[in-house]
Amino acid sequence: MKSRKVYIQTIGCQMNVYDSGKMMESLVPVNCSPTDSLGEADIIIVNTCAIREKAVQKVHSFIGRLNSLKTKKENLRIIVAGCVAQQEGRALMNRFPHIDVVLGTHTVHRLPDMLEEVDHNGEPVIDIGMSESPVEFDAPKSQLQAQSDTNRFVTIMRGCDNYCTYCVVPYVRGRETSRRPGDILNEIQILTQSGIKEITLLGQNVNSYGIKEGWLTFPELLEMANRVVGLKRIRFVTSHPKDLSDDLIASFQRLDKLCNHIHLPVQSGSNRILEMMNRKYTRERYIEKVEKLRESAPDISITTDIIVGFPGERHEDFDMTLRLMETVRFDNLFVFEYSDSAITPSSRFPDKILQKSKNERLQEVLRLQKHISTEKDRLLVGQVFPILVEGPSKKELKSGALVNSSQKELTGRSSGNRIVNFSLKTDCMLDIDAMKGEIIDIRIDRVFSNSLQGSPVEKDFLKR
Ligand code: 5AD
Ligand code: SF4
Repeated sequence: MKSRKVYIQTIGCQMNVYDSGKMMESLVPVNCSPTDSLGEADIIIVNTCAIREKAVQKVHSFIGRLNSLKTKKENLRIIVAGCVAQQEGRALMNRFPHIDVVLGTHTVHRLPDMLEEVDHNGEPVIDIGMSESPVEFDAPKSQLQAQSDTNRFVTIMRGCDNYCTYCVVPYVRGRETSRRPGDILNEIQILTQSGIKEITLLGQNVNSYGIKEGWLTFPELLEMANRVVGLKRIRFVTSHPKDLSDDLIASFQRLDKLCNHIHLPVQSGSNRILEMMNRKYTRERYIEKVEKLRESAPDISITTDIIVGFPGERHEDFDMTLRLMETVRFDNLFVFEYSDSAITPSSRFPDKILQKSKNERLQEVLRLQKHISTEKDRLLVGQVFPILVEGPSKKELKSGALVNSSQKELTGRSSGNRIVNFSLKTDCMLDIDAMKGEIIDIRIDRVFSNSLQGSPVEKDFLKR
């Protein structure tokens, strides 16, 4: 069969980004290659997110628009994967008859077989089966991920057993299952050998890694990754506050490659709402964990998620969230308006909050966080941070200045996960490539809302 071009539209979290990579990887041996152009594609994969109503609407409207492409190109294959596929299954196919394949969150590895089935029979195929076995989400043992990038995601577990009352994940991603330590190590080693310097370990609740299976604990897994030669940095997402152990807190001090950042979703500052959310911790317990983290790693960057307008959230409850933000002083946060989904228990809770109030609360959280971030950011000016260089900055790429100018702007990340741009005097492109994946000391000169601007500390860099 002639070679085919694959366009992947990924909506949602890092887990989907990882799965999209795996899908692409699995199609390469059957004569497929990636494309950035929707019009050029022979296969379109929509990897979907069901976490909030807006994301689901976005998915439906994207799939709807593909119909016109399908009418123009008879052999075009349309594949829908991810959480909406898992949640809606056959109904999705009935609503959009131009879909050829629907595959669920546990059947990503079946994509090449399903595609072959459609090619052979000309009939649409669906598989949204769920399994408890970790085997199905092992990565293909190949070097295909090798690219010039510096960072990659590595999934270490899937699913969630926590059943927060507002969340679809336990229903669409299934039971919490950890991946075998040996397979994780193998993937990290393959990535490192192909030039990756930083990995982000992914799971809905990484803190409970391996507990059910009786394998390594999460801190032990981190220790294993820390020993991989050539790897420079390790990150992870996401942690549930109730499972944040003292051992994990101590890892920030113990492991030299572990980055100084934790994403610790609090969701609300009100004990009444936390209880209704089934979060299994109180605001006091959350604050205690934050204090312990800062004792272990004084400069640790702490970010969070907040939901505003949960059913029954009174002004006093919302106020407790604002007060908690003032106490903790997060480095950054994501805030979401509560969104109903028919499959979650909270959709049946009384006292739904008006859209207008949800939006006002969201704006208020953003305002307060902006104020806190501005105050914290001011203190960064003049400080020196080791930055892992990722490549030319966005500005540099856009302006195309890379080829001509003797002054290049590069971009990288601090251990606390801040984007840092800095200029470097250099004569040729080769220098830029050589810098990728290096960690260099940068002094912060200016602060912008989404990035920091700095300059290399070593004068030698300027002369290079
Ligand atoms: N409504 C609004 N936000 C939600 N999140 C999860 N489910 C919902 C929902 N139903 C948010 C939580 C979670 C983040 C990934 O998405 O804050 O941490
Ligand atoms: Fe959803 Fe709660 Fe599980 Fe996070 S811990 S994925 S919010 S159920």
